[in-house]
Amino acid sequence: MKNSIYILGIESSCDDTSASVICNKKVLSNVVANQEVHSKYGGVVPELASRAHQQNIVPVVQQALIEAKINKNQLNAIAFTKGPGLMGSLLVGTSFAKSLALGLNIPLIAVNHMQAHILAHFIKEENTNTPPFPFICLTISGGHTQIVRINDYFDMEILGETIDDAVGEAFDKSAKILGLPYPGGPLIDKYAQLGNQKAFSFSKPKVGDLDFSFSGLKTAILYFIQKKEKENPNFIKENLYDICASIQYTIVEILIDKLKNAVKKTGITHVAIAGGVSANSEIRKRLLYAQKHWGWTTYIPKFEYTTDNAAMIAISGYFKYINDLHADVSVTAQARLKVNE
Ligand code: KG4
Ligand code: ZN
Repeated sequence: MKNSIYILGIESSCDDTSASVICNKKVLSNVVANQEVHSKYGGVVPELASRAHQQNIVPVVQQALIEAKINKNQLNAIAFTKGPGLMGSLLVGTSFAKSLALGLNIPLIAVNHMQAHILAHFIKEENTNTPPFPFICLTISGGHTQIVRINDYFDMEILGETIDDAVGEAFDKSAKILGLPYPGGPLIDKYAQLGNQKAFSFSKPKVGDLDFSFSGLKTAILYFIQKKEKENPNFIKENLYDICASIQYTIVEILIDKLKNAVKKTGITHVAIAGGVSANSEIRKRLLYAQKHWGWTTYIPKFEYTTDNAAMIAISGYFKYINDLHADVSVTAQARLKVNE
């Protein structure tokens, strides 16, 4: 095997166009172009997302190669997100990756986006530990909320998941009720740090041991705000920080309760978080607490590997490459794909 393996990763599953070059397990570049176009619509507009990917993909890949200081002829393989995600968005990355792999005559590697969020923990970074198998990962994003048992790089088992909304949606929809722009999760996090977590209370949903439900919470928040605004039209403005802190506290309590159940049920104390919502300061704080007081060993990704990025696709591609798990050129994008597929 060659000493230096260069993999180009391409991510285009939702509204971020990203390209990354890694050498073995080290990230040389990770370029992400966010699509501002969606914020005024309060959510991702699929048609606009695929058009923006089409515009961004060539310059983003070029930039990733420039920052990595390598020539495209040095690449060993092209890894791309096969799914899950928005079909129109996935098709842009899939077609581009196929053409480039064919043009360079190098292997094409199809990556599952949900596996990639988890495998981001294996990127080699200073001062970070990689989890040993088996470990548990709470994958929390705008489209998914699940607790996964990871037995090996590509052997993953869903222990529990949401039966309705994803946790990122709970953050974003709550933010929308408060009149905040999309995506509201980071803003709720920012304002929550200035408020009182116990100011308002929202009841937690009752679902199976390791499953989640967030649609009831969203409705409870909506009714609560409507009622309070009737009494005081300035209620949101006057209490924004406390409302955000209370919503965030409730959501993170739900997540931590489920993680505790998973640790109890499996006896596995190596616990990771992944996905866009793992950027949240409260969940990060609570995991550090669990490490200190409950005997867990926790794995918290660097901020740049939490929300959608191509470095996680490239590292997944690396593990597939060294195991000869190449894709055929007839491979197609898949809007729906489970973490164990
Ligand atoms: O993983 P991701 O970038 O895209 C999907 O695959 O869905 O996750 C995006 C989600 C959005 O819902 C966004 O509001 C949420 O992650 N998010 C956060 C924070 N940063 C991003 N939610 C809460 N607190 C944050 N700091
Ligand atoms: Zn994602």
